[in-house]
Amino acid sequence: MPCYFAIAARGVELVTAAELTRLGAHDVKPAVGGVSFEGDLALLYRAVLGLRTATRILRPLREFAAVNPEMLYSQTRRVRWEDYLDPRKTLAVYATIEGASSARPPAANVAPAAGRRGPRATPDRRGERRPAPAGINHSQFAALKIKDAIVDRLRREQGARPDVDTQNPDIRVQAHFAGGRCTLSLDACGASLHERGYRLKTTMAPLKETLAAAIIELSEWQGATPLLDPMCGSGTLVIEAALKALRIAPGLLRTNFACQRWPDYDGAVWSQIEQEAQGAILRTPPAIIEGSDIDPRAIDTAIENARRAGVTHAVKFEVRGIDATHAPAGEPGIIVVNPPYGTRMGEVDELEGLYRQLGELWKERFPGWTAFLLAGNPALAREVELVAAQKFKLFNGGLDCKLLRFDIAPEAGSATSDPAPHEPHPG
Ligand SMILES: C[S@@+](CC[C@H](N)C(=O)[O-])C[C@H]1O[C@@H](n2cnc3c(N)ncnc32)[C@H](O)[C@@H]1O
Repeated sequence: MPCYFAIAARGVELVTAAELTRLGAHDVKPAVGGVSFEGDLALLYRAVLGLRTATRILRPLREFAAVNPEMLYSQTRRVRWEDYLDPRKTLAVYATIEGASSARPPAANVAPAAGRRGPRATPDRRGERRPAPAGINHSQFAALKIKDAIVDRLRREQGARPDVDTQNPDIRVQAHFAGGRCTLSLDACGASLHERGYRLKTTMAPLKETLAAAIIELSEWQGATPLLDPMCGSGTLVIEAALKALRIAPGLLRTNFACQRWPDYDGAVWSQIEQEAQGAILRTPPAIIEGSDIDPRAIDTAIENARRAGVTHAVKFEVRGIDATHAPAGEPGIIVVNPPYGTRMGEVDELEGLYRQLGELWKERFPGWTAFLLAGNPALAREVELVAAQKFKLFNGGLDCKLLRFDIAPEAGSATSDPAPHEPHPG
């Protein structure tokens, strides 16, 4: 059975593994930065259309030792590229090198590594940090070497070469270097899976759709209880929640995946999987899903994004400051929130009050609810003055973050408040 690798952000791997297991994947193994799994073509198509938290799915073709450019070229040339592309198709090669200063390629799947200064060894799939081999330490150079080897092989085998198209290639080859070895893979997705297609406009600091989906998964919300985001910005958390609640496979919002241009693409199987996914969609959401924000432009954007995602009927957005938020009548639900972190001095001081207000409001008005706060600044998160019952380490655009779970006490005013709010959270 073919083997695949789903790329996921660090901290999200177990969530992606659980998704793959639910989709019917075999031999699901989480690693650092992704999950390997096995499955037939139907499973691949189900994963491409249905995974909410992975950014890419790769089909590894060959793994080999590559400690210098000559080895890289000759080993790449040994792959039977003529089985995957012919000269009429277009090609792009991307490389990631663990331990190199430019470990991240200028590709759409990777969030910019904000705040990173100079060369830093990135962890390999086993979580170890090793420097890149001396001869191959620049991703664009490695990608060029691989492209040359592919083109030379095809010229010899087929008498012509494919063109390079970095914008919308038919076949996208992904090379990953770690510990002196290179893995060459075909990318099944094309554009990163976080590009669902619904978010054409963004406000400041939107979450990646795949990270928002991971937060919803980590909250264990199943769609049956209310979900509120009182600082919803462009609405990413709310829209991802609605997609999950309505069982809309995120890939249905897109029309173009690289695996549809692979030689083994099976249109009949694809249509069947697509129909299965269409058939699973619920007409109405089981519970309230609401977003609010103090900024009217953010709410306009959220409404437009929800329309593009086809979830308008399932969500409600309102211009409202957090001070005006109240729990809807009925059983308690969850709050998911991604407040501003504040990047400049002074901004952080101003935000302290906002975080304190969040904690106070939850204790007063949301008894029995569970709040999930994505915290990019631990000092600000402490201002909430609640003890985190659970913490998940996540990365938002290269920034270390924690998703904190707060269980608000059932009786109004008697919440589990932190007796020593300025001490670090346990765990
Ligand atoms: C980091 S952004 C949220 C981004 C959002 N998760 C997304 O994916 O687009 C924080 C949001 O908090 C909102 N905000 C700041 N102060 C607020 C307040 N007092 N009440 C409600 N919203 C507020 C801002 O307008 C901003 O849209």
